[in-house]
Amino acid sequence: MNTLTSNVTAAITDTFPINGTDFIEFYVGNAKQTALFYQHCFCFELIAYKGPETGSRDVASYVLRQGKITFVITGAFDPNHEISKHVALHGDGVKVLALWVDDAEQAYNLAIERGAESAFEPLKLEDDHGSVRLAAIKTYGETIHTLVERSNYKGAFMPGYSPKTSLYKVKSLGLKYVDHCVGNVELGDMNRWVKFYEDVMGFKLLVTFDDKDISTDYTALMSKVVSNGNGFIKFPINEPAAGKKKSQIEEYLDFYKSAGVQHIAIATDDIIHTVETLRNNGIEFLYVPDNYYDTVLERVGEIKEDLEDLKRQNILVDRDEEGYLLQIFTKPIQDRPTVFFEIIERHGARSFGKGNFKALFEAIEREQELRGTL
Ligand code: FE2
Repeated sequence: MNTLTSNVTAAITDTFPINGTDFIEFYVGNAKQTALFYQHCFCFELIAYKGPETGSRDVASYVLRQGKITFVITGAFDPNHEISKHVALHGDGVKVLALWVDDAEQAYNLAIERGAESAFEPLKLEDDHGSVRLAAIKTYGETIHTLVERSNYKGAFMPGYSPKTSLYKVKSLGLKYVDHCVGNVELGDMNRWVKFYEDVMGFKLLVTFDDKDISTDYTALMSKVVSNGNGFIKFPINEPAAGKKKSQIEEYLDFYKSAGVQHIAIATDDIIHTVETLRNNGIEFLYVPDNYYDTVLERVGEIKEDLEDLKRQNILVDRDEEGYLLQIFTKPIQDRPTVFFEIIERHGARSFGKGNFKALFEAIEREQELRGTL
């Protein structure tokens, strides 16, 4: 099948067209400080803001951008505000995985018709720069998918926000786009959520990992990856599996108090520079022992990068039929062992680093042991 035919087929069979990730919104206890963390440590640039100075009486939001990635960091002032309650229950976490669509109302109506639960009904926001249409549906835990239609908008982010820039020169980190977002759900719920993405949003099951793929001597989990029509959105869904000790997914659910977003994988095309800069900025990564590198090239074959550079930064390597990938995982980025980041550089490979699962989960278990939660 040539490219043109396959693109046409994909367009015809895509029953829920999504252009890509629009933004990811975090609900946090102190938006001002969290926004500064992402600017200083992850080198995001501030592009817009709303708060008391712009007429937002109850909420402050900082909009951060790097490459095609937009993070919105939001906090509320009143303890009874829905956002404050969310933070009290879950800690800092991801509330919104927003998806960019051509027609928010049509997408919303279709999702509801197919069984999605509404988070909020279609609405239109307007200012001098144009209009944005939004609607939202619920997914696992208290997480929602906001559907964003912004073809008629020329402003910094969306109506209600004022342009605002970082107060100092942000150095380049090379983060490009959101590669995938992973959800942790309760035992027995993985298939229900896979079916939700298939039935409601026309996603396809890309790959399944069972507890034989993802287990160490102590802990296990199961995972299924779903992907949308154009392949730009990938959502792996994890659930705990029975092991001798508590799995990392159970630890997450215990601390987040519900299903939720576990990690966001961000693509770079210079992972060595990206990770070196992040480390210099104080970001901590999971540690994989040096002996990982003794046999890694036997497993993955030839790679472009110097093995010593990868070893120095503790970056992991894996290969599939289509190529190889480099990846590394941060430690949790808030006090609770919940949300963390993955940095990934793909060289043809479209998989998720199955060859690294054992080394990674042993690294996570060492952290769990320190927290007394294994
Ligand atoms: Fe991942």
